[in-house]
Amino acid sequence: MTTTNDRTDAGPELPDVVMNLHTPKSPGMGVVVASDVCTVKKKAAGFVRNVSIDVSGTELAGKFKAGQAFGVLAPGTDEKGKPHKVRLYSLSCATNGEDGKGNVIATPVKRLIDEHEDDHSLFLGVTSNYLCDLKPGDEVKLTGPNGRRFLIPAKPEEHDYLFLATGTGIAPFRGMMMDLLEQGVNSQITLIMGSPYTTDLLFDDYFREMAEKHENVRYITAISREPQADGHGKLYVQDRFAANQDELVPMLSNERTLIYVCGLAGMETGIYQQMARLLPPEHLARYLTVNPEVMGDVDAWDRQLVKQNVKPTKRVFLEVY
Ligand code: A2P
Repeated sequence: MTTTNDRTDAGPELPDVVMNLHTPKSPGMGVVVASDVCTVKKKAAGFVRNVSIDVSGTELAGKFKAGQAFGVLAPGTDEKGKPHKVRLYSLSCATNGEDGKGNVIATPVKRLIDEHEDDHSLFLGVTSNYLCDLKPGDEVKLTGPNGRRFLIPAKPEEHDYLFLATGTGIAPFRGMMMDLLEQGVNSQITLIMGSPYTTDLLFDDYFREMAEKHENVRYITAISREPQADGHGKLYVQDRFAANQDELVPMLSNERTLIYVCGLAGMETGIYQQMARLLPPEHLARYLTVNPEVMGDVDAWDRQLVKQNVKPTKRVFLEVY
C-alpha cells in the first residue's frame, strides 16, 4: 500500500493539458490588447509589464491551464543571421484568461537591460524588449501551450499550497491563486514573494487584497535589499522559513502541503537547505530524498552538491532558471 508520505509516492494527480498546438514552424498570430506596468506605483528601478494578448484567432484560445507557458517569436535575426529562437513566458493569468473566456492570455515581462562584458556597450534582451515595446493592436507570433507538470492538481481541495517566487517567477502563482479562489477551494494558500525592493513587488495590490479578503490566503514578502516591514532584516525567500517558522513548519509538516517554486535557480538550493535544517526527517522525506552522507553539513550545500545528493519528490514543483 502507498501511504501519503511514502518516498515512492507518485504525487498528486495532475489535470490533462494540451501542448504544442502552434510550433515555431506554424505559429499562431496573437494581438496585444494591453501592456500594464505591474510593479508598485511605477517607482521600481526595473521595468516589468504585464502584456495581455488576444489569442482568439489561434488554436491557443481556451487551451491553456494556469501554470503553463507560451512561446514568443521576435522578428528579425540573431548575430549569425538566423531567426531569433522562441522564448518561453509563464502565464500570469487564470485558466479562463484575463477576459474570463480563455481568449486573452498574459505574462509579466521584465526588460533585460545589461552591458556587453568586453566593451561595456549597451545590451538589450531581444524578446523581452520586443514584447515590452508592443502596443495594443500589434501582432505577435506565438507557440504553445508548453508545460505539463507545473500545474494545480486535478483535485485541488485535497492539498494546501506553499508558493515560492522571485521576480517574474510570481507569474504562475497569480493565475493559480485566481483559479483556486474562483473554484472556492478552501485550502491554505501561502505565497512568499522575493524582490530586491518593495517597489519591485509584482501584482502586489492583487495579492494584498486576496490576503485581506480570504482567511485561507497568506501573502508574505521577502525583500532582499531593505529591512522588512515586520521588523526582520534583509531577507531572501528561503530566509522566511526560519523567520516565519511558527507558521511555516506546521504547514510543511502537514501531509496535504505541496511546494511550488518559480524563479531564480539559486532559491532552490536555499529552500532545500532551510527545509533540511528545520524539518524533522519524517516530514522532510515527504519533499526531499537526501543522501544521508550530506545531512551532516547542510551549510556546505551548493547547486552542484544538491544536484547529486538531493532529489525532490513529486510534492515539489519546480520552474527555476
Ligand atoms: P538580490 O538581487 O538582492 O541578491 P528580480 O528578479 O526582480 O531581480 O528579483 C530577484 C530576487 O531574488 C532579488 O530579491 C534577489 O536578491 C533574490 N535572489 C538572488 N539570489 C537568490 C538566491 N540564491 N536565493 C533566493 N533569492 C535570491
